[in-house]
Amino acid sequence: MPLSSSEMVEDPAVFYGRLREHGPVVRVHLDGAVPAWLVIGYDACNRVLRDDLTFTRDLALWRISREGRLPAGWPLAPHVIPMRNMLYASGEEHTRLRGAFKASLGRVGQLRLRTTVARVTDALIDAFVRDGEADLVSQYAVPLPVAVLAALFGFPADEADQLQRAVLTLLGGGESALDANDLLNSLISVHVRRRRQDPRQDIATWLLEAGLSENETRESLWLAINAGVGSSSAWMANTCALLAGTEDTRIDLRSGLQHIPGVMSRVLWDHTPVQQVIGRVATADVELHDTVVSRGDLLIVSPAAANLDHARIGGDTRRDIYAEGNASHLSWGNGAHECPAAPLATALVQGGVERLWTRLDDLHLTHPGQPTRWSPSIIVRIPAALPVSWDAARARARATTLAPIGARS
Ligand code: HEM
Repeated sequence: MPLSSSEMVEDPAVFYGRLREHGPVVRVHLDGAVPAWLVIGYDACNRVLRDDLTFTRDLALWRISREGRLPAGWPLAPHVIPMRNMLYASGEEHTRLRGAFKASLGRVGQLRLRTTVARVTDALIDAFVRDGEADLVSQYAVPLPVAVLAALFGFPADEADQLQRAVLTLLGGGESALDANDLLNSLISVHVRRRRQDPRQDIATWLLEAGLSENETRESLWLAINAGVGSSSAWMANTCALLAGTEDTRIDLRSGLQHIPGVMSRVLWDHTPVQQVIGRVATADVELHDTVVSRGDLLIVSPAAANLDHARIGGDTRRDIYAEGNASHLSWGNGAHECPAAPLATALVQGGVERLWTRLDDLHLTHPGQPTRWSPSIIVRIPAALPVSWDAARARARATTLAPIGARS
């Protein structure tokens, strides 16, 4: 069965529902007829993610890749080429790198995080507020996370701008992506060297202070940007889409019947930002929910499918209760490689959506009823565009009444 983005992104519930007829572990072909197992059952996904001895993150063990049988220029290659960072590490090495990373993220104070997010959001909103309309994907959800991360990593303002442009080009794929990646690497290298000589209060400095080498610090920053930017943008865009697209949600938010974290939680269940995790490799022949997986096979774990496994999660009728008040979805993964940045990403997205909603409280879709066009990715679930409108005069008047950045709400 081919695993292509076109069918998957249009209606994931229908797509995975059809796949479920073949069981919780399905043989699929990626682009270029590359075979893999797609793990779609909630219990099967958990089993794979939590047993990192049988299902390793070390993709160097993937048989097809080891035997050099991947097609030349394969589009998913950047997601499977093993790198020297925590995502591909295991055992003590993984614990050491991940421990330093989590400890460094943990040193970012709540106030600093909130003010950084508010400063970036205000600058982005100021740039389009007078127009009365904007594309919330390209003008807000996409630039926001990278700008916040650049600030928290301690990049000087002029380099942060270059870094943003490089990351956005890299995420866009296409011909300039490789050059953009070179530029990103060189900006990170310069910055890490600078922080070795001139330590400050930022994540780059704290990674070095936690005992990582300059090289490991570079790899960690690169990974954080690549793992964090697209996923946070997608979460933000889909939360904004729910807010702008449903009058009921806006009424409930105004009356306090719903709150933004509840809407964000619903998005994690129904439109998980990272649809598929590529992946894991079986280290032995193993039976996985009645399917025999061979040593060296690639498994793609599908948080999107697991979260929509209605038979296992809440059933159709209890789905709403799960969606807002329960965090047993697999959107952050599970086990040893579970996302270490969930609190940071949550604060970032919540801050971004709340500030937008505070400033543009009559935000609505410019073309209601028009079907969402999704980006053609099997990994990140994000609308290609989100055109919204608001009353610009009302927004200007409202801006004068807002609390200054950094004030506790
Ligand atoms: C909506 C936002 C995000 C989502 C949905 C998300 C999701 C995930 C998932 C599913 C994994 C597990 C991958 C696996 O099991 O192989 C992961 C790992 C990771 N994420 Fe996130 N992530 C988000 C934001 C971020 C941010 C903002 C950062 C960095 C600042 C980040 C850094 C990482 C890193 C470093 C790993 C690898 C951890 C390890 O290998 O131990 N993520 N993320």
